[in-house]
Amino acid sequence: MPGPLLDTLKGAKPDIAPVWLMRQAGRYLPEYRELRADKGGFLELVYDSEAAAEITVQPIRRFGFDGAILFSDILIVPHAMGQGLEFLAGEGPKLSPTLLEAELSDFAATYERFDPIYETVRLTRQQIGDQVTMLGFAGSPWTVATYMIAGEGSKDQGPARLLAYRDPARMQAIVDAIIEVSVTYLRGQIDAGAEAVQLFDSWAGSLAPDEFERWVVAPNAAITAQIKQSHPDTPVIGFPKGAGAKLPGYARETGVDAIGMDETLDPAWVHSKLPETIPVQGNLDPLLVEAGGPALPERVRTIIDAFEDRPHVFNLGHGIGQFTSIEHVEQLLAAVRGA
Ligand code: CP3
Repeated sequence: MPGPLLDTLKGAKPDIAPVWLMRQAGRYLPEYRELRADKGGFLELVYDSEAAAEITVQPIRRFGFDGAILFSDILIVPHAMGQGLEFLAGEGPKLSPTLLEAELSDFAATYERFDPIYETVRLTRQQIGDQVTMLGFAGSPWTVATYMIAGEGSKDQGPARLLAYRDPARMQAIVDAIIEVSVTYLRGQIDAGAEAVQLFDSWAGSLAPDEFERWVVAPNAAITAQIKQSHPDTPVIGFPKGAGAKLPGYARETGVDAIGMDETLDPAWVHSKLPETIPVQGNLDPLLVEAGGPALPERVRTIIDAFEDRPHVFNLGHGIGQFTSIEHVEQLLAAVRGA
């Protein structure tokens, strides 16, 4: 019995939409903040399989979500490729040297860094019930490349977009390297017990149409095809944040099994543009959950109603914010489950 989330990703339409939230394992939870204060930094937690499994399970215990997303980060892939990675408190990630200062061939890869992550998946799978779906993930190549090139989060992903225009062959080599490592990493997660995987393309929205085809559609299609070859029964969820009008093309051309939708998309528009057999996931604005109030259950209802005729996984349009109150998450769940 696989559970309602996995069933939905495979095309079922349960009466109540299964629900999980992007970034559900993290800073809005007091029990996470406590463990983080005990253990020191974020990366220490990620590479400590027991702590990471505990954090992965925390939101399931508290809220009974239908999916448990592996506690890790998309930047573990560059770290394993040999790039230096630090998370400085209050500043976000720093990767060094950047790919403006160094070549990929300067890096010494340490793929053993993936081993504790696979162990987190195994430990989590043992702790959650069989009705809860274990979700693995990786960043999509374009989004990961934007961090590897700039060395940090960047406004409009300018450094990566410039590199792609100035030296497309070098950009292609970077993206191809990320594809290869990500496929290995995702296969490892699935072999360890992940039942579905999500590809986070958080910065897909900054690309012009031809660039979107080359750096978003093609790499996500390549990863999906390779996962399908080795693990044909494991659903792949694509989340091209900010794709807007390019979403139907992304859905058609990448071959992903399910589509994650950001909060800017009108559910009625998505429903009319995607084939009815494709499961969708999303797309409540995380800031509405932070704000709360009567608009929260109303918006939940609108989203659920828009997708009543297709497989739909309830989620946010992006990660839950660290200042979101527990009460508002409870209201969201009551609205989804009572709806
Ligand atoms: O709960 C979950 O979703 C599982 C774990 C998860 C994290 N990051 C944990 C995390 C997942 C799936 C991610 C994905 C991720 N990481 C993305 C793609 C999705 C998105 O949000 O756009 C990106 C772009 C990153 C890179 C990253 N990691 C940044 C920019 C930052 C700093 C800013 C921030 O949002 O916190 C992180 C740190 C990070 N990743 C934290 C957590 C819980 C906070 C670490 C802490 O200070 O405790």
